[in-house]
Amino acid sequence: MRQKILVTGGAGYIGSHTCVELLAADYDIVVVDNFSNSKPAVLDRVAQIAGRAIVWHEGDLRNRSLLRQLFDRHHFAGVLHCAGVKAIAEAQRLPLKYYQHNLEASLTLLDVMAERGVQRLVFSSSATVYGEAARVPYREEAPLAPNTVYGRSKMMVEDVLHDLVQADPAWHIAILRYFNPVGAHPSGLIGEDPSGPINNLMPHICQVAIGKQAELSIFGHDYPTPDGTGVRDYLHVMDMAAGHVKALQYLSGESGLLTLNLGMGRGHSVLEVLRAFEQVCGIRIPSRYVPRRAGDLACYYADACRAADVLGWRAKRSLFEMCADAWRWQVQNPNGYE
Ligand code: WQD
Repeated sequence: MRQKILVTGGAGYIGSHTCVELLAADYDIVVVDNFSNSKPAVLDRVAQIAGRAIVWHEGDLRNRSLLRQLFDRHHFAGVLHCAGVKAIAEAQRLPLKYYQHNLEASLTLLDVMAERGVQRLVFSSSATVYGEAARVPYREEAPLAPNTVYGRSKMMVEDVLHDLVQADPAWHIAILRYFNPVGAHPSGLIGEDPSGPINNLMPHICQVAIGKQAELSIFGHDYPTPDGTGVRDYLHVMDMAAGHVKALQYLSGESGLLTLNLGMGRGHSVLEVLRAFEQVCGIRIPSRYVPRRAGDLACYYADACRAADVLGWRAKRSLFEMCADAWRWQVQNPNGYE
């Protein structure tokens, strides 16, 4: 009998790739998504890759009666909570939206899970909870001091989860702190397709490569890094998805709270990513240095040892694979999910 998992935000970039890995690991899944930054077509592609139909419902996690209906209709073994909003700059302008969609929605979900006795949760958190004071490489036990609304909205949910486990040790919770996922499923059927303005580096590079953007703006060339451009811990989205499945499987046997970085454990600069992309795809990417982007940190990457020690998980795909898979998705879907 397959275990059934509720995946919130399952039509999103991380959620859709994780759904593919969950199906490959022989779970049944039910997706709930409000499609604010994704489309139902994504789930058709996930089913196509998996060769299995998946059940999905459109809805907002703040809708308690919808959640209760889902938990009445399905017997969930656990929840993978990927739903949320994640644009750092937008969060600074619209804090209430971020606290409603990231914190309030999580509280409603946890409440209904508790009502129904479903106490196994994998939560999508972020490396931005560490903030600029943290020493690099970021270790999970470092004190948290997020310097953005987005980071604080994620840290608040982490605090709630800590308190929940303190109050009831029957909860099995994994907090996964995402670094910078990039790339796409090797089939080219699913990938990163942000609705609205593009924020992240790799989608911008792909837009330039496909001719939809004239050049890449490199935010800052005066950081204290080897080549002066920002350094981040990029990992393949398929590796990240595999990390979620490992975390879910770990929670089958362990109660309490586990916090893990999902990163490669090394950084790459903007210029290194750009050069890797050009080398892999054989396309020159015009670029121009522009002033730093507000809120950006110079350099951060993960200490990835705990995930390796506890889950036996490491991100293993190379930066070249990330670039090649991102480019294949872009070429096969010039207009994203239409
Ligand atoms: C990476 C680097 C930029 C675009 C991400 C997510 C955020 C959160 C944290 C999940 C930086 C530079 C970028 C461009 C550039 N993720 N850059 N030109 O800022 O690390 O944030 O991780 O919780 O939601 O966005 O990622 O891809 O925006 O930037 O030079 O056009 O690329 O300055 O150094 P970031 P990013």
